[in-house]
Amino acid sequence: MDKKKMDMKKRKIKIIGTGMCVPDKVLTNADLEKIVDTSDEWITTRTGIKERRIASENQASSNLAIGAAKMAIKNAGITIDDIDLIMVASVTPDTPFPSTACWVQKGLRAGPIPSFDIAGACSGFLYGMILSESLILSGTSKRILLIAVESLTKITNWKDRNTCVLFGDGSGAAVLEESRDESGMLSYYWKADGNLGDLLFMPGGGSRVPIRKENVDEDLQYLHMKGNEVFKYAVKKMGLSAVEAVKRAGLETKDIDYLFPHQANIRIVKATGKRLNLPEEKVFSNIHKYGNMSAATIPIGVHEMFAEGKLKKGDNIVMVAFGSGFTWAGITYRW
Ligand code: ACO
Repeated sequence: MDKKKMDMKKRKIKIIGTGMCVPDKVLTNADLEKIVDTSDEWITTRTGIKERRIASENQASSNLAIGAAKMAIKNAGITIDDIDLIMVASVTPDTPFPSTACWVQKGLRAGPIPSFDIAGACSGFLYGMILSESLILSGTSKRILLIAVESLTKITNWKDRNTCVLFGDGSGAAVLEESRDESGMLSYYWKADGNLGDLLFMPGGGSRVPIRKENVDEDLQYLHMKGNEVFKYAVKKMGLSAVEAVKRAGLETKDIDYLFPHQANIRIVKATGKRLNLPEEKVFSNIHKYGNMSAATIPIGVHEMFAEGKLKKGDNIVMVAFGSGFTWAGITYRW
């Protein structure tokens, strides 16, 4: 049986609508030069970031998530009543509980459908897609609203130049259902290693270090990262995830039209593209305008490329991520 027929036979899930939402407020590298000892030159050459979006005081993750979700539902040509499960990928929930998904359910006036969060950090959207495949193909759900949202600037220490220049806020969403044609998710690869969790984590606010005045005085409520160590793992694992995802789809590098790497650092993005031997024009990046939005970077990237008419039916794309946990994942998808 030829490859095309095989793909048609394999049951798959597909994206039927995408959306995104970022806060209006822009923080540029020049603005950061006034806050910490840094420079536009350092940030641009070391990370590729020029500016990022910042949620306002009264803008929680659910507000951004609802914006992205409404757009994805509209673009799918359905209504909220056609959704039977809401999944939110985030490490910056509105509240430890209830889940951000439940706040989103309320905001969207959805019925009493199952709604829950997953915490896969930067790999969260890909973890959510892989989980959605099981839920949809097993018949548990028919149509899932998957949202990735982060308000990382709310857990950013604005006195720490090592981290505060890196992150931004935003949300990307997708509506997923079973595919009836050749498009959809062709393969996946997902892993985690908790042994290295303390290289990138938020020490406070959980049961290990509860919110108490003395912990807040030590800045434990903020994201802490050993950037250069994370960098090495990110390059290695994102490259590996890309290679594995392509291999598991039965494809070769020459078949790939676009790579969507998680946007943590332009040097990691480029290194992942090189690992797949892809020319630069096939490696997506929007890090210059948004910074690192953790789980939200990939769905926002895919949404932007589709909205700009650059993603065509039949294009093979690879999405690949690495984040706190550590977690890493890769997905090959036919548009
Ligand atoms: N401005 C100026 N100088 C700075 C800044 C800054 N904003 N930040 C750090 N420096 C300095 C350091 O103090 C250090 O100076 P020293 O040599 O005098 O000590 C020097 O620059 C080099 O620091 P490194 O940390 O070694 O710089 P590096 O090249 O590794 O870049 C960075 C740092 C951008 C953080 C990079 O390591 C990185 O991108 N790491 C990976 C991030 C990532 O992938 N995260 C995973 C996902 S995020 C998530 O899950 C939420």
